[in-house]
Amino acid sequence: MTSPANSAPAATSGADALARLRALPKAEVHVHLEGTFDVDLLERWARAAGVALPRPRERLLQFEGLADFLDFLDWACGLAATRERLAELAYAFSARLAASGAGYADVIFNPTHWKAWHGRLPAMIDAIDAGFAAAEQDGLPPVGLCVSLLRTQSADAAAELVDALVALRHPRVVALSIDGNEAAAGRTGPRFAEAFRRAGAAGLKRTVHAGESSGPEGVRDAIECLGADRIDHGVRAIEDAALVALLAERRIPLGICPTSNLVLGVVASIEAHPIEPLRRAGVPVSINTDDPALLGACLEGDYALCRTAFDWSDDEVRAIAATSIAASFANDDVKRRLNEALARW
Ligand code: ADE
Ligand code: ZN
Repeated sequence: MTSPANSAPAATSGADALARLRALPKAEVHVHLEGTFDVDLLERWARAAGVALPRPRERLLQFEGLADFLDFLDWACGLAATRERLAELAYAFSARLAASGAGYADVIFNPTHWKAWHGRLPAMIDAIDAGFAAAEQDGLPPVGLCVSLLRTQSADAAAELVDALVALRHPRVVALSIDGNEAAAGRTGPRFAEAFRRAGAAGLKRTVHAGESSGPEGVRDAIECLGADRIDHGVRAIEDAALVALLAERRIPLGICPTSNLVLGVVASIEAHPIEPLRRAGVPVSINTDDPALLGACLEGDYALCRTAFDWSDDEVRAIAATSIAASFANDDVKRRLNEALARW
């Protein structure tokens, strides 16, 4: 006879597994503020502005790849025209983070997408900071900001952004980032080298999107031209064995986003995802959501996806969470607290 325990539906054990991964102490190190709009919010803001949705609601979040997705970000971010809306997004971001059991995040935001704020970077950072500060006051996790260039910008625009960040010295800003479409921009490592050098000299960390829309050569440029402390995606490094060895030897962490890679067509299936061979080769890898609301990702869900596909043990999952904490730009106190909690998981 089947016992009640044995007959429990698979969904129950799946839900338990997900709850356990939610409880895993971890950091998120590759996630964009631009990727946190949900459809209801976008529809509400578009209606208030008298702006039409770019396509019907049912298909609003269907993207034809990275270029189409980045165009959508310009439209969505264009709706966030007030300080209150930016603060609301930032607060909601922290709540989402807490709901996934993350104790810290480095969040990327790219000023080029937010047209209502062009030319007003200090006010923009101030508004986002207000949302994160209110969230932290309410017990939600701390967040650092990585301010991002777009791959298609010029060297002059990059210099201007770094000048502004250095003059501002805002305590919320932890890093200079670069994102966007490398396939459209071509090879741009040398173009941004000086901006990244100056950011590093001014005490900012450096995080670089590469090896998503570029091949391994983009990852190499991220290391050699841009001095990356961390690489966002980096999955196409797998195509170059010497580069994989370099990432492992120098302990350069990759902020990998499995669901994003599937939705945007970077990899064909989770079983074929390079995260597993990269991890086995000794590259520090973490799991992240990239643009969670827009791409249908959640942090514990991405852990579960990989854990199931690669049959990871508790120790292997714990090691990935430890990498996420070590790779983050959190301060030592936050890292210590998270590591202590992780040891108890
Ligand atoms: N900006 C937001 N999401 C991105 C991604 N996956 N790649 C490049 N730039 C982005
Ligand atoms: Zn990204």
